[in-house]
Amino acid sequence: MSEEKKVQDVLIRRMQIADVDAVTGIEQATFARPWSRESFMQEMERNKAARYLVAEKNGRVIGYAGAWIILDESHITNIAVAEAERGCGVGRKLTEALMQYISNLGAAYATLEVRVSNERAQHLYKSLGFVSVGKRKRYYEDNGEDAFLMVCEHMPDVEEDFQEPETETPESSGEKPENQGGMEHA
Ligand SMILES: CC(C)(COP(=O)(O)OP(=O)(O)OC[C@H]1O[C@@H](n2cnc3c(N)ncnc32)[C@H](O)[C@@H]1OP(=O)(O)O)[C@@H](O)C(=O)NCCC(=O)NCCS
Repeated sequence: MSEEKKVQDVLIRRMQIADVDAVTGIEQATFARPWSRESFMQEMERNKAARYLVAEKNGRVIGYAGAWIILDESHITNIAVAEAERGCGVGRKLTEALMQYISNLGAAYATLEVRVSNERAQHLYKSLGFVSVGKRKRYYEDNGEDAFLMVCEHMPDVEEDFQEPETETPESSGEKPENQGGMEHA
């Protein structure tokens, strides 16, 4: 099956509380200092600035991407694709969808940090209009690696018919709110 066909089978949708366990699983398999399940619950239930999307294939969550949006500013907090699904266009599809989503919500630009060694992610971000504007020295606590700070000032045009789906609340999900864990990323 071609890569194009594979990525067509992938649905991008708003993350729900029921997705938190799957997202936490990918997060923990991917990052040296992963966010906890509680951190994602906090993002879903308490952080009004947070928006997360997931990539779903055959009913299974295979990736996620999130951002914080405050007025016209946005910061991409984390993007990851399950290891077995990488290199097939899912990361690009997710990141493009996230940028469209946050642009629709009013973001005029987006920032993110990325490890200086993470060439795959840098390649993706540059191809979507991000440029490196500086380095954050020893940003990553696990190995003291520097981060590039990247900015995109050319967001996708707002979709005129955009309407945001309703946000889940602790009441509507039936889940109890939990304490927030550590939040270093990405
Ligand atoms: C970074 C990540 C999200 C990209 O997702 P993905 O599904 O693998 O990426 P895609 O298949 O959409 O490819 C995106 C680009 O990366 C490039 N790429 C893919 N595999 C690559 C590799 N092994 N080395 C270098 N570049 C690579 C591709 O060239 C592609 O660009 P193109 O469309 O111009 O060819 C994914 O690899 C991942 O989860 N990595 C671990 C977590 C991470 O690093 N997150 C980002 C933190 S800032």
